[in-house]
Amino acid sequence: MKVLVIGGGAREHALCRSLSLDPAVSALYCAPGNAGIADVATLRPVDALDGDAVAALATELVADLVVVGPEAPLVAGVADAVRAAGIPVFGPSAEAAQLEGSKAFAKDVMAAAGVPTARSYVCTTPEEVDAALDAFGAPYVVKDDGLAAGKGVVVTDDLAAARAHALGCDRVVIEEYLDGPEVSLFAITDGVTVVPLQPAQDFKRALDGDQGPNTGGMGAYSPLPWADPKLVDEVMELVLQPTVDELRRRGTPFSGLLYAGLAITGRGTRVIEFNARFGDPETQVVLARLRTPLAGVLLNAANGTLDAQPPLVWRDDAAVTVVIASHNYPETPRTGDRIEGLIEVAAEDEPDAYVLHAGTRREGDAVVSAGGRVLSVTATGSDLAQAREKAYTAVARIRLDGSQHRTDIAAKAAGLG
Ligand code: AMP
Ligand code: GLY
Repeated sequence: MKVLVIGGGAREHALCRSLSLDPAVSALYCAPGNAGIADVATLRPVDALDGDAVAALATELVADLVVVGPEAPLVAGVADAVRAAGIPVFGPSAEAAQLEGSKAFAKDVMAAAGVPTARSYVCTTPEEVDAALDAFGAPYVVKDDGLAAGKGVVVTDDLAAARAHALGCDRVVIEEYLDGPEVSLFAITDGVTVVPLQPAQDFKRALDGDQGPNTGGMGAYSPLPWADPKLVDEVMELVLQPTVDELRRRGTPFSGLLYAGLAITGRGTRVIEFNARFGDPETQVVLARLRTPLAGVLLNAANGTLDAQPPLVWRDDAAVTVVIASHNYPETPRTGDRIEGLIEVAAEDEPDAYVLHAGTRREGDAVVSAGGRVLSVTATGSDLAQAREKAYTAVARIRLDGSQHRTDIAAKAAGLG
């Protein structure tokens, strides 16, 4: 099977790594990719937001499957263009991707499907904003309606800050604050059949102790030793299957990866957000634990034959990933800094720890930073404590001027804090 992956972050590196280990994959391409993905896939340049360009590349490569990683191409209709060219694609249509592209659309689908989520108002005027902030009180949760790479959400006790963020958005969703630990649960679906993956937890805030601004995600781990063993079944029944059924009922079936961001509140599990693609950095830890070869599962979803997919098989291992971000991320990240220590990590006699690249590019012999999140250092171990130790040992070998990372990823879950 020839597979083309679209994107160039750590999530795509994790996808390419898994696909490269799948004996069914005879050729693996990534466009545009990054300096690390080049080790496991052939890179091709492409404008990932240009559906015609992606479809033409897939046709040229005679790809049997295209996997679209990030949300922006999905919302721009790249999966539709590839499907129209007659090539199986893993990723939803532009219409179905509105589940991530518009928070208001997601709320509407959840209401119709009876999916538990925070109560909310969609506001377009300052009067509506003030009324909604007043109705819920602090802490205020204010979300830009459109795509914002995880940075369009402000959660604050400060009314003036909440109001300022809301007034800076064209359309804004203001909602009830959900208290409780967060879980990311991914499911692979062909629009009818839904296959859940293992849950993971992401660390969204920039600084230790969940302080600082929201980011795209600073680290993740899986499994969740503290979670109710029935969580996956419950979310399948209350959230994932009803959402997939509702989108099919509307004539916009969702095929691809449905990401449920959940809060486990005292009053039950609630959806915080949906995404229409694999999460980053959670994918790094979820795929590290998946034993079933990935390509066939994604192809079954793309072809509408997921009902024929044998049950997924998981390792007993735990996985931890720690994101190394640029100086000044998430505000105005500095790029172009040289990354050192990658060879030392690779040469280490420790195959369970590896570096997945996010924003990197090659400059002559050097690998330099090229984005806010630069590397996602991933490790597996017999339990979270061991996986964590291996991941942080590898992090310590990497040198990137001005870089930052959290030191508490998975600490609490591993019983260390
Ligand atoms: P989102 O982009 O919707 O995932 O929001 C980013 C982050 O903001 C989430 O991961 C939560 O940490 C936080 N957040 C979003 N919505 C809520 C809510 N209703 N209550 C509490 N925190 C929230
Ligand atoms: N880790 C959060 C996201 O992928 O949106």
